[in-house]
Amino acid sequence: MLREKLLNLKNEALALIQEIKDKKELEEIKIKFLGRKGKVNEYLKEIVNLSEDEKVQTGRIANDVKKAIEEALRRQNSKLETRNSKLEEEWLDISAPGIKPPQGHLHLITQAIREISSIFEKIGFVRVRYPEIEWDWYSFEGLNMPPNHPARDEWETFFINASPHSKLGKMILTPHTSSGQLREMERTKPPIRMLNIAKCDRRQSDVSHAPTFYQFEGLVIDKNISIPHLKGTLDYFAKEYFGPDRKTRIRPFHFQFTEPSFEVDITCGLCGGKGCRFCKEGWLELGGSGMVYPEVLKNGGVDPKKYTGFAFGWGVERALMMKSGLKIDDLRILYQNDLRFLNQF
Ligand code: DAH
Repeated sequence: MLREKLLNLKNEALALIQEIKDKKELEEIKIKFLGRKGKVNEYLKEIVNLSEDEKVQTGRIANDVKKAIEEALRRQNSKLETRNSKLEEEWLDISAPGIKPPQGHLHLITQAIREISSIFEKIGFVRVRYPEIEWDWYSFEGLNMPPNHPARDEWETFFINASPHSKLGKMILTPHTSSGQLREMERTKPPIRMLNIAKCDRRQSDVSHAPTFYQFEGLVIDKNISIPHLKGTLDYFAKEYFGPDRKTRIRPFHFQFTEPSFEVDITCGLCGGKGCRFCKEGWLELGGSGMVYPEVLKNGGVDPKKYTGFAFGWGVERALMMKSGLKIDDLRILYQNDLRFLNQF
């Protein structure tokens, strides 16, 4: 009878082992049947009551039962392990947040160009862009700077090795967006409200100059346009782009293509105009402006007796740096495509 009991015990154990789901359960079952105080040993206590012969046979059976249970446990254990590693491999948690693909963004100069365009578009300026490769006439001669005029030295110009145009002169890389003034007058009749944002090139490369940079140029031509229109436009832009408490001032200057000409300053964003280490006297210089010189209107086919106009031309990089308070040691980093820099914006 002890034999039967042992065989039944084996069947019971094997059935249970097949149902085992994890290692903890496996350990429990092992102890329950094979442990020192487990069922097999418990049953074996009865062996003392048997004859010598039966003892030997029952002992053998008991050993077989133990082995069978051990073997079943081992098999179940390895089943559990492969199931776990498979689960790990195929693990899918549909509630887990997805992996975001890396998202880029527009270059900070492009962002600035878009913002500047939309500010001027609100007051009726039409965004245009004129060629990066230009004729001397549009950049210089038509703007009152005939060949060999000393004012040209300000624009350290790249010349293209191509035969000159009989009327328009040499081929150059546009050194400033003011060339767009004449082009716009050729394209359309007054009233004109142009915003020309384009790449410019000059033979300058140092910590505050990149050889290729951007300018934005405004031109307004209509009847009775005067300095207050210019001042109003400057104030509007300064408040929209730099912030509501910023003010502008215009300071007499000289450009060949405007008369009178001004430099435009805006109040420093750090000290609000009182003067600090960043700005020195409370004002930061933005760029040039003025009333379009009558000769330039004539060169563009506009009658200076009927129309007057104002113009302004500033660097995009400079405006951006003044807005953001971005103090970079070397402006050229804007164009080096270093993601460690660009990712910050
Ligand atoms: N084109 C000039 C420059 O590059 C800036 C400028 C001055 C533009 C006066 C203007 C202006 O439209 O009226 O330095």
